[in-house]
Amino acid sequence: MHGLRESFDLTGTYGAHPQVLAAPEGVALDLAAPGSVETALAGRVYDVIVHAAAMTHPDACEKDPDGATRINVRGTDALARWAAAQDSLFIFISTDLVFDGRRDGRRGGYTERDPVSPVSHYGKTKVLAEEAVQRRCPRWVILRPSLLYARGTGLSHSFVDWLHGNLNAGKPVGLFQDQFRTFLYAPDVAAAIARILSAGVVNEVLHLAGPERLSRYAFGERFVDVFGYPRKLIRAISIKDLDDYAPRGHDCSLQAERLADLGFVPTSVQQGLAAMKTAGEGGV
Ligand SMILES: NC(=O)c1ccc[n+]([C@@H]2O[C@H](COP(=O)([O-])OP(=O)(O)OC[C@H]3O[C@@H](n4cnc5c(N)ncnc54)[C@H](OP(=O)(O)O)[C@@H]3O)[C@@H](O)[C@H]2O)c1
Repeated sequence: MHGLRESFDLTGTYGAHPQVLAAPEGVALDLAAPGSVETALAGRVYDVIVHAAAMTHPDACEKDPDGATRINVRGTDALARWAAAQDSLFIFISTDLVFDGRRDGRRGGYTERDPVSPVSHYGKTKVLAEEAVQRRCPRWVILRPSLLYARGTGLSHSFVDWLHGNLNAGKPVGLFQDQFRTFLYAPDVAAAIARILSAGVVNEVLHLAGPERLSRYAFGERFVDVFGYPRKLIRAISIKDLDDYAPRGHDCSLQAERLADLGFVPTSVQQGLAAMKTAGEGGV
């Protein structure tokens, strides 16, 4: 959300990590605790709520489905109800994993017009949350980003943090050659939100995707080249090689038709990786 700081008065919420807030002011909020939204936000009024908090790791959601439902579905429902009572615009950050990625004989390339078809518990919670937002809020936007990459905080278990951590330690990593996504440079999320707000978009689902469809392995090849790691540290593997991996489709790549209509141009992977390198070697 750093990209929104210059144009908006921002307040952020945090669960366990106030130190990584992008906003000048922070409010503690536990979406898993009933009543916490009303208590934490009492007396506050916001024009816009951007709801990005979630249990985000698909494997963790698969292992703790009740916890994931509590945070991702009930937590979203409570926040959406609160936003509706304030007459705030509610922007919900969903995911590309609302799709099954199994389009027979076709590449992913899901558009906003495709029906959702989640296969993981994580994806299912996000679909239920999308429905809650549309049901509760008179003014909403659902934004579905693809797999994100950026300079990490060192606190989350994101794909690039994992990649950096292993490669830095000289450990080889296996990367799926048969899972395709439209990798998105994370600062593009804030830029897209700014575009959506300036265009006055309301009550629409929008996809947000990087410009290229790449396998994780192909992304890894670009990554090691930019950061100067030896190519021999990355190895191509298949989704089938991992047993305890939450179900995910082979190709959840997105097409961001609506944002393209709005003139939004996402950052290329080459530019994103270069910017990430300039910002700091990928971790704190
Ligand atoms: N990362 C991706 O590739 C990707 C792709 C598509 C969509 N998304 C979506 O984008 C959003 C942000 O993802 P991310 O990768 O930045 O996630 P992340 O690093 O895992 O961060 C999750 C955030 O949710 C907060 N949170 C978790 N449980 C909470 C709770 N019980 N109460 C209040 N806050 C809680 C965390 O706060 P604390 O750290 O302070 O606890 C943290 O700020 C999510 O909605 C995710 O579904 C992510």
